[in-house]
Amino acid sequence: MILRINNLKAGYNGMEILHKVDLEVRPAEIVALIGPNGAGKSTLLKSVFNLCKIYSGKIIFKDKDITKLPTHQLIYQGVSYVPQGRQVFSNLSVKENLEMGAFIMRDKEVVKRNIQDVYNKFPFLKERENELAINLSGGEQQMLAIGRALIQDPELLLLDEPSLGLAPKIMKQVFEKIMEINKQGISIIIVEQNAKQAVNIAHRTYILEDGKIALEGGKEILQDDRIKNIYFGGR
Ligand SMILES: Nc1ncnc2c1ncn2[C@@H]1O[C@H](COP(=O)(O)OP(=O)(O)O)[C@@H](O)[C@H]1O
Ligand SMILES: [Mg+2]
Repeated sequence: MILRINNLKAGYNGMEILHKVDLEVRPAEIVALIGPNGAGKSTLLKSVFNLCKIYSGKIIFKDKDITKLPTHQLIYQGVSYVPQGRQVFSNLSVKENLEMGAFIMRDKEVVKRNIQDVYNKFPFLKERENELAINLSGGEQQMLAIGRALIQDPELLLLDEPSLGLAPKIMKQVFEKIMEINKQGISIIIVEQNAKQAVNIAHRTYILEDGKIALEGGKEILQDDRIKNIYFGGR
């Protein structure tokens, strides 16, 4: 297991949103996390990245307890996070945005190499490296946000709704990139509203309802009667 979340209770200002959640990620696995709005999906990613309150439970990454580690330490350990809503720095160039991903990295040679790797993965970012991020399309901004996380050379990538607000064709490209990234050995947790696409690219899926894991399974989860109509629009 690369990540093991045990008995997690987490939330905000004394309010418990996640109730005894267990979730595991194996090496080089894509895990999809789906469920209704407000179920706590973003909170679960935030709890791994120490951006909400953790009341009890443990988060173990590669046999090390990372519960409540500060953000820069988490990045050093190999965990990177792409928040919901294409968070790019609008008035910085593409290149500057990527460099922001490297703000904690001391070895500038490694940073240079990682930026090259990201350019190889997303050639349009290289072509437009001096363009302001605000001038990129929605899909391009999302890939820039993912690229910025990849600069940190993660072993585990947390993606919160990367397809949100994208046209179907662009969405497909983003999902393809995510699979490519995973094929290079990076484990991924992807939170998605597009349940069907997420389940299809994932090795395993968890369904979160009211802060609890309601179901866990492989692609056969798409056929599960309990959820078919709710999340997958019937047949
Ligand atoms: N910063 C916050 N402070 C207080 N409550 C929050 C905060 N962020 C989210 N919540 C609440 O936590 C619950 C779960 O939210 P969230 O994790 O964003 O759900 P999801 O991502 O599944 O839509 C919601 O009831 C939401 O209102
Ligand atoms: Mg969310």
